[in-house]
Amino acid sequence: MSQSGTVTLLVNRSECRIEADPDLSLLEALRDVLDQKGSRYGCGAGQCGACFVLVGGHPVPACDTPLWAVAGKAVTTVEGLGSPDAPHPLQQAFIDEQAAQCGYCTSGMLISAAALLGRNPSPSERQVREALDRNLCRCGAHNRIVRAVLRAAAAIGGRP
Ligand code: FES
Ligand code: FES
Repeated sequence: MSQSGTVTLLVNRSECRIEADPDLSLLEALRDVLDQKGSRYGCGAGQCGACFVLVGGHPVPACDTPLWAVAGKAVTTVEGLGSPDAPHPLQQAFIDEQAAQCGYCTSGMLISAAALLGRNPSPSERQVREALDRNLCRCGAHNRIVRAVLRAAAAIGGRP
């Protein structure tokens, strides 16, 4: 039986009070309550990475995370990385490298990449591939995605 409650969390630097069952998934709260549609529903089981958001700088499957588990915490979605007018270097690099086909995996890829560059601004190609290992791309855009992350690292970290 579902219960209603209030969960307060910080989404993209804004405090949000969500009236909902605390067992609701974070992904449903983001998409259906807060109208932040950037995080995608893929497998629903923490296996594909389409729904990843940053919690404490770590990529976390929002589909598999109940609201109560992020009470009081800071959550960053793809909307919080940048905007069309002021894109994050990763977002710009994905555009420059045309690093998507259908785009369904893109939001989660960007979140995993942002977590990587947050802890290592100059990753090697191998480190990029390892960091994106949990993110599936059915379209096979992996090579362009890896190139985009390395391009963003160069923009951020001054790599050649
Ligand atoms: S939809 Fe969350 S990991 Fe696949
Ligand atoms: S671009 Fe289609 S799933 Fe990755």
